[in-house]
Amino acid sequence: MLVNSPLVGLLLLAASVLASASPLLARAASTDSFGLYAYGSGIGGLPVFYSDGYAYIGYGSPLNASSSANVTLTESPGDSTTWAASPNITTSSNATWSDKFFYVPSPQAPFHRVGFTSNSTSYQITSGFTFYGHFTFLVTSSGAWESLFYAKPTAYSGIWELMWNQTDEADSGVVPLTLKNSAPSTS
Ligand SMILES: *[C@@H]1O[C@H](CO)[C@@H](O)[C@H](O)[C@H]1NC(C)=O
Ligand SMILES: *[C@@H]1O[C@H](CO)[C@@H](O)[C@H](O)[C@H]1NC(C)=O
Ligand SMILES: *[C@@H]1O[C@H](CO)[C@@H](O)[C@H](O)[C@H]1NC(C)=O
Ligand SMILES: *[C@@H]1O[C@H](CO)[C@@H](O)[C@H](O)[C@H]1NC(C)=O
Ligand SMILES: *[C@@H]1O[C@H](CO)[C@@H](O)[C@H](O)[C@H]1NC(C)=O
Ligand SMILES: *[C@@H]1O[C@H](CO)[C@@H](O)[C@H](O)[C@H]1NC(C)=O
Repeated sequence: MLVNSPLVGLLLLAASVLASASPLLARAASTDSFGLYAYGSGIGGLPVFYSDGYAYIGYGSPLNASSSANVTLTESPGDSTTWAASPNITTSSNATWSDKFFYVPSPQAPFHRVGFTSNSTSYQITSGFTFYGHFTFLVTSSGAWESLFYAKPTAYSGIWELMWNQTDEADSGVVPLTLKNSAPSTS
């Protein structure tokens, strides 16, 4: 349900975008590939990156990770709401993985982490992603527009886990986020 305050704030934001934007601009212009950048209190557009199957934000990577890379996403042919991930070869030319899809946990999932999967389980939602302007949303099968992204601190300074529907903010120091397809300099 749409109960937490960051979501309400975002919906209000979306509503204000709606009010000011032409209907023709409701969807971002189709891009061949894009990165995602996280914005929140104290987080000014950190890039989303891949590390061992999970999504993180920040520069660098968890020091103990075996494979990390900045991520380039591409709308899948035939389903633009499923986003295929690959390493951004400009900054992460050594990364070798491919054929992974961006996912968020389903409402029933016993976890809250966002990641990348080549073979999604019923707990991993890999389709329904879209933009409203530059803002990333999940459009559910019932038609709800959700943005429930959060950053959760890691042991590494400046590196955050990307979470979805994480509600225990007071306990873990998580920060509500919006994810945009525009880097800070162009936002
Ligand atoms: C890949 O990384 C470069 C350097 O940070 C950046 O300019 C470019 O926009 C990125 N590409 C994508 C698709 O994210
Ligand atoms: C992502 O690119 C930035 C430079 O744009 C770099 O500082 C960072 O280390 C890269 N992250 C990974 C995981 O390769
Ligand atoms: C890195 O450390 C974190 C936290 O201690 C742990 O959850 C994760 O599994 C470790 N990753 C690897 C590849 O060892
Ligand atoms: C890529 O691999 C080479 C050889 O292992 C290493 O010297 C280089 O630092 C790596 N580059 C990056 C961006 O990780
Ligand atoms: C968020 O998680 C709770 C359980 O922690 C679940 O009941 C709820 O359906 C989830 N909402 C979404 C939109 O995933
Ligand atoms: C995908 O996952 C299912 C269930 O976990 C498994 O049976 C199947 O072999 C997996 N397929 C691939 C290509 O890994």
